[in-house]
Amino acid sequence: MQEWTELEDACLRCEKCGLWTTRRNVVFGVGPRDADVMFIGEGPGELEDMRGEPFVGPAGKLLDDMLSIIDLSRENCYIANIVKCRPPRNRDPLEEEQEACIGYLRQQVKLIRPKIIVCLGRIAATRLIRPDFRITREHGKWTSKNGVWFMAMYHPSALLRDVSKRPESFDDLMSLRTMIRNIKAKI
Ligand code: URA
Repeated sequence: MQEWTELEDACLRCEKCGLWTTRRNVVFGVGPRDADVMFIGEGPGELEDMRGEPFVGPAGKLLDDMLSIIDLSRENCYIANIVKCRPPRNRDPLEEEQEACIGYLRQQVKLIRPKIIVCLGRIAATRLIRPDFRITREHGKWTSKNGVWFMAMYHPSALLRDVSKRPESFDDLMSLRTMIRNIKAKI
């Protein structure tokens, strides 16, 4: 198993897909490396590309607010993306870009060994839960894979565009809080 420095160095130098040619920074991921909960988005936007940190734009501000509702923060969960470099004009990451990049996330998951992975939006859910995952129908539902609990929520950008989805996301957050409590009770 690759260790953190080796993994991060390789990721920061990565040229496995075309996105390296337009990136300003690789957005590796942030948070404690022993976090119980990981949040996975799809890929960096403009501000994230500028700062080298995930979810620092408007969607990130909303994510921070959502985390604080259930007493989570960047101090106690790990935040990363399916692709580590910004797709031009914030388009969806292409299949081959996801394929080229997913190994870094898989190594991060192996090293962190989270108990819970929350997929933010369709791209993360179809990549990490099931290729035919339907976010509108299946958000908030739990699946266990290899000892890790997975759940998907609407992407914070979707919640900025369509506030009518927010009550459902609130319910998903409550469900996440319950799952975290149940897991802690078992430790
Ligand atoms: N959207 C994402 O999916 N990830 C980020 O880091 C920022 C916005």
